[in-house]
Amino acid sequence: MSIPPLANWNGDEMPLDQVRVSVLDRGFLFGDAIYEVLRAYRGRAFLFEEHMDRLERNLRKIQLRSDAAELGRRAQRTLASSGIQEAVIYLQVTRGCAPRTHRFPDPPVPPNELVWVAEFHDHYAQQRQQGCRAILLDDLRWKRCDIKSVNLLANVLAGQQAHEAGCADAILMNEEGMLIEGSHTSLFGVRGGTILTAPLGNNILPGITRQLISRLASAAGIPLREQALHRDDLARVDELFLTGSTAEVLPLVRVDEASIGNGTPGPVTRRLQEGYRRFVESQSTA
Ligand code: PDD
Repeated sequence: MSIPPLANWNGDEMPLDQVRVSVLDRGFLFGDAIYEVLRAYRGRAFLFEEHMDRLERNLRKIQLRSDAAELGRRAQRTLASSGIQEAVIYLQVTRGCAPRTHRFPDPPVPPNELVWVAEFHDHYAQQRQQGCRAILLDDLRWKRCDIKSVNLLANVLAGQQAHEAGCADAILMNEEGMLIEGSHTSLFGVRGGTILTAPLGNNILPGITRQLISRLASAAGIPLREQALHRDDLARVDELFLTGSTAEVLPLVRVDEASIGNGTPGPVTRRLQEGYRRFVESQSTA
């Protein structure tokens, strides 16, 4: 039987479908908001501290006053009272409701703080096993993709284009032809046994799963270099995979019309999937 999503709205717990927000909310009007997404396995929030650290950094980056630690406590409480074991946890903070002006409200108004916990339905299970396809698209996003802002129009359009092409995601490419990340995932390649991924900077989201992959690779003795792949490298990589909190580790076997490696999920991707699975087990039973 399915459990309905449970929310915490500005400190009050309620069913998600009962949360109401004003049209003057600055998240609604301007996208003046940041968010966070994490998984819970067996009722335990996964990589919780890491996600809360990123939330706090994002609040600071957009000068939004909200207590990340308190939001974290609300997320944990909501998870516990929902009774959901395999969950997705969503947090969002907006700059609150005020008459519409671009500059920040002066005096400041209270932020709107939303947490919800919902059952996680794994749409990636088959793709994780068999591998999946991606399309290559121009990266049309703004110049601060390191901020996990709810301004996701370019990501939404890319995600839809990928979906219409029967692909799991779109790989976003900058003007120099460098591959940055997916529309909602981080991107990795493997060449000659070395894992390659784009370096962090203002043009990329510092993925929490990306960070875990780096730890898992190091523990497994697999070298990892922060170096972006070029579109021309796609013909030369042995493996390609995407990562994200909900996607986990997703092998890519085709990009546009080109096969990647031998067209099946490769051994390094498989080892990382296995390492990921073991790490989840260790965290959710400890
Ligand atoms: N997306 N890159 C982008 C642009 C993302 O939106 C995400 C996450 C990632 C992976 O980050 P992480 O490993 O921290 O989940 C990379 C979330 C899941 C979303 O928007 O639903």
